[in-house]
Amino acid sequence: MKQISVFVAAMAIAMIFALGSGIYNMSATEKHWPITEKVIEWMRENSIATHAKDLPVPVLENDELLKSGAEHYHAMCTGCHLAPDMQPTELSSGLYPQPPVFHQRPPTNDPSQKLEYARKYFWVIKNGLKMTGMPAWGLSHDDNEIWATTAFVLKLHGMTSTAYEHLVQSAEGHAHSHDH
Ligand code: HEC
Repeated sequence: MKQISVFVAAMAIAMIFALGSGIYNMSATEKHWPITEKVIEWMRENSIATHAKDLPVPVLENDELLKSGAEHYHAMCTGCHLAPDMQPTELSSGLYPQPPVFHQRPPTNDPSQKLEYARKYFWVIKNGLKMTGMPAWGLSHDDNEIWATTAFVLKLHGMTSTAYEHLVQSAEGHAHSHDH
């Protein structure tokens, strides 16, 4: 028993020295091992699911909400998450982990899957994600604006560039509470 404790303590000290020695490469161009990526993904998905599970979701199929979401998305999110027919930006290509490209995701038609996505998206847009570059927009936007953006991101799954431009144009001149 005593030998095991000495071994564990020695391992912990060796680990602290290894981590503090600077040998670990924090560069964004140095990818994680596949196993590390899987562990981070598993932690992230479980964390979001746990924190978002009881969120009451408002009606998202609403033209006004979608217009407001289009306006917010177009102004604040395309630099990282892009839009249909848009080339990767310097910002989006330099990030690690890479921001997901929503219009390349398949459309969600199943109501319960939609609800799950809505909760997840709202939570992430409001709170951001540690050590990824995804900002917490809840510090500068109220829940209505975050739900509007959530509704738009859900609609963005599988969206064509024509539909995107149409929605963004119809949102122009749309009353909003602040400039970006
Ligand atoms: C500076 C770059 C940046 C900006 C700007 C940004 N994001 Fe992100 N976003 C990220 C990154 C990076 C991730 C996390 C990728 C990961 O964890 O694998 C992310 C993750 C997300 C996710 C979680 C997606 C998923 O399925 O896991 C959502 C939803 C999201 N962003 C929405 C938005 C919206 C909406 C905006 C605009 C209001 C926005 N983001 C602006 C970089 C950004």
